[in-house]
Amino acid sequence: MKFYSYGKQTIDESDISSVVEVLRSDWLTQGPLVLQFEEELAKKFGSRYASVVSNGTAGLHLIGTALGWGEGDIVLTTPITFVASANCAIYVGARPDFVDIDARTYTIDVEKLEHKIKMYARQGKRVKAVVAVDFAGNPCDWDGLRTLKAKYGLQLVNDFCHALGAQYHGDEHYPAKFADAVNLSFHPVKHITTGEGGAILTNDTEIEREVKILRTHGITKSAELLGKNDGPWYYEMRQLGFNYRITDFQCALGMSQLARLDEFLERRRFVARYYDAAFRGDDRFISPSVAPNCKHAYHLYPLQVRFDRIYVDKRELFERLQRRGIHLQVHYIPVHLHPYYREKYGFKPGDYPESELFYEREISIPMYPSLAVEDLEYINGMIRESVAN
Ligand SMILES: Cc1ncc(COP(=O)(O)O)c(C=O)c1O
Repeated sequence: MKFYSYGKQTIDESDISSVVEVLRSDWLTQGPLVLQFEEELAKKFGSRYASVVSNGTAGLHLIGTALGWGEGDIVLTTPITFVASANCAIYVGARPDFVDIDARTYTIDVEKLEHKIKMYARQGKRVKAVVAVDFAGNPCDWDGLRTLKAKYGLQLVNDFCHALGAQYHGDEHYPAKFADAVNLSFHPVKHITTGEGGAILTNDTEIEREVKILRTHGITKSAELLGKNDGPWYYEMRQLGFNYRITDFQCALGMSQLARLDEFLERRRFVARYYDAAFRGDDRFISPSVAPNCKHAYHLYPLQVRFDRIYVDKRELFERLQRRGIHLQVHYIPVHLHPYYREKYGFKPGDYPESELFYEREISIPMYPSLAVEDLEYINGMIRESVAN
């Protein structure tokens, strides 16, 4: 029996030989490929700068630090995301809070966001930043977010981990045009992988400088930043930073993968078209919808199952499909319902009804480039068989 997971990496011989070549070279880390990968990322996604980091969570931590979040600041995100999108606020002493998703796009509901900003304003508090997630690969309403940024002076972060290659108004270069900082992850289930890894994109020179210093202990050797200079060995630690660096052999893998991103996207969109045709028009399912001004990048294919219309519950559906070699996942358990968030901040069921309903219904079905038509036929057939009584 074949094994299907909801997502997995696509590695070929060109990826392997690019890594082996670095392993035979003089640089394993902090060598020339870091800079080269950064240049290629900036070019591909149309940002002025790119900084590679050890993973996407580290990237969000650095963004929060570089944007100056701290005690008393409110940072908003959606419950339907990975915990890291909210945790980054806590790392820097800010308070995370949530805005419900839009029932159609599964991304932040911009109207509800404005309500929340106004609610805080009535209490004399100002929202500092929004971490907007292009969930599953579907761009947020960035025009709406930009309007609120201008109106309320918000900082905007795009948690872009799911959306490499997505388009907004036909533009693949949209992320850094709308957000102050953009966060990427190169975890194996994502569009391109470096094992663990991530990157920060920005058009802002200040943010770029902060991030580059913070990812390497807060240390600088840059002549214009040094207070004095004892000699060629000299460096200064001017703020508290971290070791969030990535290696050269990971960057080699990243570049080799980035060169194939368009090919991966084409395959992911092919898989999505197959699923759309299979599940649309069947009232037991809701397939993801895409706004006319967006092109989805399909990191995930979040299928909603109307369990109220079938005789199988979610646990049973998972187990039935597992027995047939199909290993689903759910994206995500609403962040506000995790024990840590409930206990620390008092969130409770019912706080974000659209997100909670989405969680009840959502299953992430296999979505990765190497799925062939016969795989999709098998997966579709097994899902249909498993939801029937
Ligand atoms: C939306 C989102 N944000 C942040 C992260 C964190 O990325 P990483 O796993 O590279 O730390 C992920 C990865 O799972 C993610 O999906």
